[in-house]
Amino acid sequence: MVELTLPKNSKITKNGKTYAAKEGDGETRTFNVYRYDPDTPDNPRVDKYEVDVSGVSMVLDALIKIKNETDATLAFRRSCREGVCGSCAMNINGANTLACTKGMDELGSGDINVYPLPHQPVMKDLVTDLTNFYKQHAYIEPFLQAKDDEPTDEWRQSQEDRTKLDGLYECILCACCSTSCPSYWWNGDTEGKDEYLGPAALLQAHRWISDSRDQHTNERLDKLEDDFKLYRCHTIMNCAQVCPKHLNPAKAITEIKKMMVNRPDR
Ligand code: SF4
Ligand code: SF4
Ligand code: FES
Repeated sequence: MVELTLPKNSKITKNGKTYAAKEGDGETRTFNVYRYDPDTPDNPRVDKYEVDVSGVSMVLDALIKIKNETDATLAFRRSCREGVCGSCAMNINGANTLACTKGMDELGSGDINVYPLPHQPVMKDLVTDLTNFYKQHAYIEPFLQAKDDEPTDEWRQSQEDRTKLDGLYECILCACCSTSCPSYWWNGDTEGKDEYLGPAALLQAHRWISDSRDQHTNERLDKLEDDFKLYRCHTIMNCAQVCPKHLNPAKAITEIKKMMVNRPDR
């Protein structure tokens, strides 16, 4: 289980509001939800919502219910509601995960604590600023790069080469892994200087390095070769524990490290 740490530059200083269950509600569960609003001085706080969860199967459904029926000011991201877009990543009961695929029945019987992804700047409530995370994704150049002339119809790949992308292409860039990684907390946002790229960007780097059609392997490895971008992974494995798509970024990072050692031009 990944320990909860407070979002970057935050500490809980005040108790929040309580929204009690209404008369006639069925089975209720209490949600303790992190609140931060840049337009008010009352920050940060944890609000308590007692929610009728009869018929509610996923945590995201409960948050939508709170927003629709109790407190329209609560901010969170969501889109697909089926674990595909990565928008609803947040920290639930101390572990990063997707709210839309986290079943209420997976959470035991106590209060449910809902916080933003750890150690990221908070924009509002459960919405974090992922600008740096996306910048790191852009850095690894997540697109096919070839040196040969483009084929006239399609760039073919054998079935065997295609299977090398399994376990990599499925990443939905939810940021659960990077924001659960202690090394990323300390070295992931250093404005480009001595910066660790984090498990999500490195898993994506490995996805393009592994693609038989890509011919920029050496250039890609060059871009990762310093003391920080790749080598700040210390194999703590939080990333693999939390990935909601059951991917293993730590393994991908190890594979890149092996390629660094075995580069033909070294
Ligand atoms: S590797 Fe998993 S946890 Fe990390 S960004 Fe991709 S889907 Fe999310
Ligand atoms: S294995 Fe590496 S990337 Fe994954 S959590 Fe640990 S240090 Fe971070
Ligand atoms: S809403 Fe898209 S992954 Fe949860």
